[in-house]
Amino acid sequence: MTERVLTGITTTGTPHLGNYVGAIRPAIAASRAPGVDSFFFMADYHALIKCDDPDRVARSTLEIAATFLAAGLDTQRVTFFRQSDIPETPELTWLLTCVTAKGQMNRAHAYKAATDANLAAGEDIDANITMGLYSYPILMAADILLFNAHRVPVGKDQVQHIEMARDVAQRFNHLYGRGRDLFVLPQAEVEEDVATLPGLDGRKMSKSYDNTVPLFEGGPKALRDAIARIVTDSRLPGEPKDPDSTSLVTIHDAFATPAQREAFRQALVQGLGWGEAKQRTVDLIESHIGPMRAAYDELIAHPERVEAALQEGARKARTIARPLLDELRHAVGLRPMVAAARPADKAVRTAAARLPEFKQYRETDGRFFFKLTDADGAELLLSEGLAEGRAAGAWVKRLKTEGAAALADAPVRLLADRAAVESALAALVSAEA
Ligand code: TRP
Repeated sequence: MTERVLTGITTTGTPHLGNYVGAIRPAIAASRAPGVDSFFFMADYHALIKCDDPDRVARSTLEIAATFLAAGLDTQRVTFFRQSDIPETPELTWLLTCVTAKGQMNRAHAYKAATDANLAAGEDIDANITMGLYSYPILMAADILLFNAHRVPVGKDQVQHIEMARDVAQRFNHLYGRGRDLFVLPQAEVEEDVATLPGLDGRKMSKSYDNTVPLFEGGPKALRDAIARIVTDSRLPGEPKDPDSTSLVTIHDAFATPAQREAFRQALVQGLGWGEAKQRTVDLIESHIGPMRAAYDELIAHPERVEAALQEGARKARTIARPLLDELRHAVGLRPMVAAARPADKAVRTAAARLPEFKQYRETDGRFFFKLTDADGAELLLSEGLAEGRAAGAWVKRLKTEGAAALADAPVRLLADRAAVESALAALVSAEA
């Protein structure tokens, strides 16, 4: 069986070199492994928890998505989407919220840190804490459980959230599964040896330390300027250098082959000047990211291409999410009211008991169509013109047996509210069953 691996990226910033080496590059490499079905999404609902600057959220979503695409993510292979394009995510969030213990949320690290800071400052314990921050782990659980992900690669700070997702999934399975598992229990995967790139000053590269090297932003000049600011000692050209005395070597090595690493260390020990060493590092990094930057700039100039990729990803994601949600809704008791089907008893088939109906027909151009009407004859859905009558019949059959789950693939256009179409299909499914 293929394993589903899922990663969300909160859209509040611009990716820097540390994000590329520590997260983006390994994630793309892992998505190419055989037997892995990867899901990457822009966690823009999560961004709203931390950031109330609308332009920044929008810009960051574009930049992060364009970075993944420019860095070689294969959108044919993986499912790449934006969280807020999946209406099933907030829908599932509520179902999970209703089975989540409040006490467990009280213990979430992010919330605890905020309340501890308030108490230390002599403020009210919940000062400036939103329900978004408080409920954050439930939204994250919904992200994961919606796709029944097996593995979730995360930093250490996120492990608790995956454990909470497991707990919620377990509780939901127990309450509503009737002996079968509605959710897979996800595993956190902490990459212990994943490169955390040091920044200009040797501490972890992070925007909050203001020590980052830009990835694409500002072009080759910004890269050169940042590398020039990496802290080194003041040894002169010709003097032997200690390769372990500066983050320059670690940053160089993140892009170097073993032979290049060895040669660089040797050269420093033998007196290579820091200026020359920095130039070599710039050239090396540029040889890797230069071509990607060209692709990135092209995407930033054409945001509609990024949008199209995300829309296609959302469509793909929803072919999984929607059927699951339909099943979950049914499991918790959110069900359309349908007449008990008693087709033998004609007298019972009064107006109230009438069912929605599929009609198949052929247009004068020879193409086959089908449509769905509700019990009162109002049109709910219309197919595309199909070359073969058999295909139309097969789709009708699928929609009648699978219901809304088949909608994502079906060659149809909705003529009414999605909810109305879904409940009509659900009525037909129950009648067929
Ligand atoms: N909370 C994660 C972070 O801050 C981002 C995220 C949101 C996520 N939803 C997710 C990560 C689901 C993994 C799975 O890094």
